[in-house]
Amino acid sequence: MEQVRLDKAVASLGELSRRDVKKLAAQGQVTVNGKVVKRVEEKITPDTDRVCIGGKLLNLNPHIYLMLNKPEGVVSASRDEKEKTVVDLVPRELFRRGIFPAGRLDKDTTGFVLLTNDGELAHRILSPKNHIPKVYIAVLDLPIDEDTIRMFAEGMELKNGEVCKPASLAHEPSWEAQPAARIVLREGIYHQIKRMFAKTGREVLALKRISMGGVSLDPSLAPGCCRELTEIEREHLLDGFH
Ligand code: URA
Repeated sequence: MEQVRLDKAVASLGELSRRDVKKLAAQGQVTVNGKVVKRVEEKITPDTDRVCIGGKLLNLNPHIYLMLNKPEGVVSASRDEKEKTVVDLVPRELFRRGIFPAGRLDKDTTGFVLLTNDGELAHRILSPKNHIPKVYIAVLDLPIDEDTIRMFAEGMELKNGEVCKPASLAHEPSWEAQPAARIVLREGIYHQIKRMFAKTGREVLALKRISMGGVSLDPSLAPGCCRELTEIEREHLLDGFH
């Protein structure tokens, strides 16, 4: 297992600088496996060593995978000059340097956004080659019919000539008296669902992503909140590629 300097491992979490770690270690506030460590040059194994600062255990696992229930009005980016981003919603204790959304939802779309600092996993999730299923619920102005379902299943051509892969479409119970539908996409074209419904003469009034790669959005996660994926969820997501 890889060994790294204590100060470097702690600073990689993004909250403290190496200088901060040195100062805290000199004050006797840093322990590794229960022993006070004053030399920050000491090598540790982030996967197995228990590092505490001021008595608080750090999670030094270099990669983090978060499930966020994105609210409306937030952009799917790491940083934005004017708008609040999905990364701005991550609480300090779950924040890691380099965290970003693996896949985008529109500003007015809600639901499951995966945030990670694992570029390789994000690349695999986003690659159209891997056909990761993403499930959405759309609230519509008009109900779907057999023709709409067939158009989605056949892979429709959008107004600008872009061709979508076949997508599945099914009825959902109506939402506040508005018709609703469930869509499964295996790719991510810009505004895809809104544009597909527009092609059938329908307007999407609200859109929510409820699952990705077989992992469902936790119904107990309030809008704007996030949590780490469980080990089972992480394996499920990763297993989709084998
Ligand atoms: N399709 C859309 O139109 N918007 C989204 O945010 C996701 C899929």
